[in-house]
Amino acid sequence: MFAVVVSLVLLSAEAGSIRGREEGRTIAVKDVQADLQDAMEAVLRGDSASKRVANIEARVWQTFQALPKNEVGRLAPRGVRYLVHSYFMKEHGWLIKGLDPHGNQDEVSDVQDASILQDKAPALVESLLEARRSNHGLALNDVITMIATLERLIFDESFTLLQAAYNFNGVSMDGSVEQKSVHDVLTSYLLLFQLGNKGNLTDARLHRALKARVSQRDDWLVVDEFQRDAVLNHDFAKQSRSNPFVEPLYTFQDSSDIVEELAHGYGKWQNTECRQMKDDLMELDSDGDGRIPIGKFYGRSDNTKYQFTESLQYLQDIGALDESGSEKKVRISNYLQGPSNCIASSTYYSICCLSECDGLLNELEAKIGAPTVDPMHLLRLVGNMSSSTVDTPRQLPVFMAQRLKSIADQNGGGVPLHGRLFSEWLHYAFPNECPYPHILEAKTLTPSHWANKKVSVEPETRSELASTAAEEEDSLPKEIVWSSQEVLHVQETKKRSTSVFRTIMQLAVLLAVLRAAIGNWATLRSMVAPTKGKKCDDFQLPF
Ligand SMILES: *[C@@H]1O[C@H](CO)[C@@H](O)[C@H](O)[C@H]1NC(C)=O
Ligand SMILES: *[C@@H]1O[C@H](CO)[C@@H](O)[C@H](O)[C@H]1NC(C)=O
Repeated sequence: MFAVVVSLVLLSAEAGSIRGREEGRTIAVKDVQADLQDAMEAVLRGDSASKRVANIEARVWQTFQALPKNEVGRLAPRGVRYLVHSYFMKEHGWLIKGLDPHGNQDEVSDVQDASILQDKAPALVESLLEARRSNHGLALNDVITMIATLERLIFDESFTLLQAAYNFNGVSMDGSVEQKSVHDVLTSYLLLFQLGNKGNLTDARLHRALKARVSQRDDWLVVDEFQRDAVLNHDFAKQSRSNPFVEPLYTFQDSSDIVEELAHGYGKWQNTECRQMKDDLMELDSDGDGRIPIGKFYGRSDNTKYQFTESLQYLQDIGALDESGSEKKVRISNYLQGPSNCIASSTYYSICCLSECDGLLNELEAKIGAPTVDPMHLLRLVGNMSSSTVDTPRQLPVFMAQRLKSIADQNGGGVPLHGRLFSEWLHYAFPNECPYPHILEAKTLTPSHWANKKVSVEPETRSELASTAAEEEDSLPKEIVWSSQEVLHVQETKKRSTSVFRTIMQLAVLLAVLRAAIGNWATLRSMVAPTKGKKCDDFQLPF
C-alpha cells in the first residue's frame, strides 16, 4: 500500500481502501459541458497557454511521428487515445477518466460509451476537433490542443479548490495579501487537492480541524515545503518586475499562477514516494527478475515504512500476480502501476505512479519515428537504453533476440512498437519498469472500479501468506513465460470505424448542448474578481 508521506487522505479512510473514493462531491452535467467549452476556448484563444502548448508539442511530436496514420496522414481515434493517455501518464502520472488502460483487449469499448459524462470529457474534446477535420482523424496540432484542453480543464477544477481555500482561511480574493496568508491558502489548497472528491468545499470548521490535525504530523513538512518552493519559484520569476526592498504582496492572480504550477507538478513531486516504494519492493526480489515471492511480499514487519496488504484477489485481477510457477509471485511493475497506488480521485482524473515504461517506449519512438521497426535494429537500440534499474550498454540474452525476431515474423517482418507482443518483450527487458501485458478486463485497472470494493487482505490471511516459504533459488537460467497473442492497440479495427460514425452521431446531440453553453457561461476567472468572493450561483457542486 502506497502510504504515508503525502497520503494525508488516509486520515479518514480505513487502511487498505483505495484512497480516491468516488463518492462525495459530484459535478452536474451542465457544469462538465460548460467547463469543457471554457477550457477549450481558453486554449484555442491562446490565453497564456502558448508556453504550455510549446511544451506539450516538444513532448509529443516524436510519438506522433511513430504512430500509424490514416490515408490523409492523420491519427485515428485509437492512436489519439494512446498518445494522450501516455502523455499524461508519463508527464503527470494522471490517469484521465475516459482514457483508461485498455487491458490489451482487442475490442475496447468506446470511450463514448462511458456512462458518466465527466468520463466523456476526452471523447468530447476529440469529437469537437474531429468535427473540424470532417472526421478524418487528428493532426498533430489537434492532439496538442486536446492535451492542452484537458490540462486546462483539470486546472480549472483546481481553481475552484483555490477559491475554497481562500474562503476557509478568511483571506480576501480582492487586492493583495502578504506572504503568510498565501502559505495558509496554499496548504489548504493542497489538503483539498489530496482529498479529491471526498473533500468538503463548504464546511470551514471541518477544514480547519482537519488541517490542525494533519499539520501535527511529521510528513506535513514535506507538503509545506512543496508549496514554499512553488512560492519561491514564483517570486524568482517575478523578481525583475518587483522592488526587492518591499515585502512581496500577492494578488489572487499570483496565487492562481502558483496553484497552476502546483497542480502540474504534483504528480512528479509525489512520484518520489512511488520510487521509494519501488526500491523497497526491489529489495524483496532476490534474483532481480522483477518478481517477489508472496511470502516476502506479505512478510514485511509492521515497523517498516511500507507494508503491502492488497489481497491476492486484487493482485490477480490487476494482473500483478504471476502464477506460472509452483509458487505465486508478485510482479513489481504491474503492482506499482496498479490502481491501489493512485490517489486523489478528482472529477476528471486520478494521480498514479508515473509510468516509466511509457517513458522508455517514448525514447524508442523518438529514435525510430515509424510504427514498425527491424528487429535487429530494435535490439541494438534497446541494448543501449538505460532505465532507473538497468545500466547500459548491455548484451541481451540470445533468447531475447530470437523472441524479437519471432514477433517480427508474426507481424510480416517488422516489430510493431505499439503491440502487445512488444510490450511483453519490453517487460522482460525492463522487468522493474514495464508491466507484463496481461489480457484483462480493462476496468479492473481503473481506480473507480475498486472504489467501493475491498482491496486489502484480512490480517490473519496475511500472516498465513507471509509464512509461505520461498523456494530454493536455482541458478539455472529460467524459461520465461511467453504468450504469443498479438493485440495491436493503435490499429483501427474495421468494426470500430462504423462505431466511430455511430458514436459521433450520438455525440452530435451533446455537442449541440455544448455549443448552447457558450455565451451563458462566463469563465470562473472573470467571475471571481467582481463577486468579492461570493460563491457564484452558476457554479454549484451539488453536495
Ligand atoms: C459538507 O459540510 C456541510 C456542513 O457540515 C454538510 O452539510 C455537507 O453535507 C458536507 N458535504 C459533503 C459532500 O460531505
Ligand atoms: C549507443 O550509445 C552510444 C553512447 O551514447 C553511442 O555512441 C552509440 O552510437 C549508440 N549505439 C546505437 C546503436 O545507438
